[in-house]
Amino acid sequence: MPAADQEPQGLQAISAYDGHADAFAAEASVSPYNAFYDRPTVLNLLGDLNGRRVLDAGCGPGLYLAELAARGAEAIGFDQSADMVRTARQRLSPDIRVRQHDLDQPLIWLPDQSIDLALLALVIHYVRDRVAALREVHRVLTPAGHLVISTSHPTADWLADGGSYFTAHRVEEQWSCGLLHRYWRQPLQDWCAEFTAAGFTIEQIVEHQPANGMELHHPAAYATLSREPGFIAFRLAKTASRAPADAERTGLRHR
Ligand SMILES: C[S@@+](CC[C@H](N)C(=O)[O-])C[C@H]1O[C@@H](n2cnc3c(N)ncnc32)[C@H](O)[C@@H]1O
Repeated sequence: MPAADQEPQGLQAISAYDGHADAFAAEASVSPYNAFYDRPTVLNLLGDLNGRRVLDAGCGPGLYLAELAARGAEAIGFDQSADMVRTARQRLSPDIRVRQHDLDQPLIWLPDQSIDLALLALVIHYVRDRVAALREVHRVLTPAGHLVISTSHPTADWLADGGSYFTAHRVEEQWSCGLLHRYWRQPLQDWCAEFTAAGFTIEQIVEHQPANGMELHHPAAYATLSREPGFIAFRLAKTASRAPADAERTGLRHR
């Protein structure tokens, strides 16, 4: 297999997160939404990692990769942003391989059935063709492999963005740090249909809850997130031997 940290020639740095990696790493190390909400929920859903080959797609500055390695996994990460990849490499031990790759491109550097467990934490809502990306993850997973996904809760997106809950569309917002945040918003049934279309079965759905310590360190976020949903996570099993060839078979509606 080609080394997972070998960069393809000519890959351009074209990510909204470029220029924000150091700030993201500092913020997400301690923030309510990452340190006290997403990571505890997702790490719990991942289960036993000892000796597992784990792929972290959209790994950012490597906060999850460090946790995966500390739990005994052979961790491999990739991110669209060259800045995130650089920061992850600086922060992590050199035996954790990190490369630049876009989830919208095939994972040609990973053979079929070479990964035990895949993680997409807070990234799937940025992906243009989510079913195609998930089919690639399906391809590289072992037959007993699993995929854990966390994303913004559709109800939270609806509360923030307004309009009809049922209308799927791309949302654009400018964050105060200067990052142009463009993400895909859709109802829960559409997320589930995409997972099924890519060949996965939903084993578990978890609506995040604040973890221990959030109330003490981030009382305002704790008050909000104890009352209303923020993120949602899914544990998916690769049950189909091949991803279904066409989305219509699973009832996925294309827009
Ligand atoms: C909110 S951050 C999450 C980082 C990390 N998963 C975590 O939870 O700490 C989103 C990350 O997804 C990456 N990303 C966005 N679109 C991507 C794509 N199409 N392919 C790969 N990575 C992508 C961004 O560069 C950024 O690092």
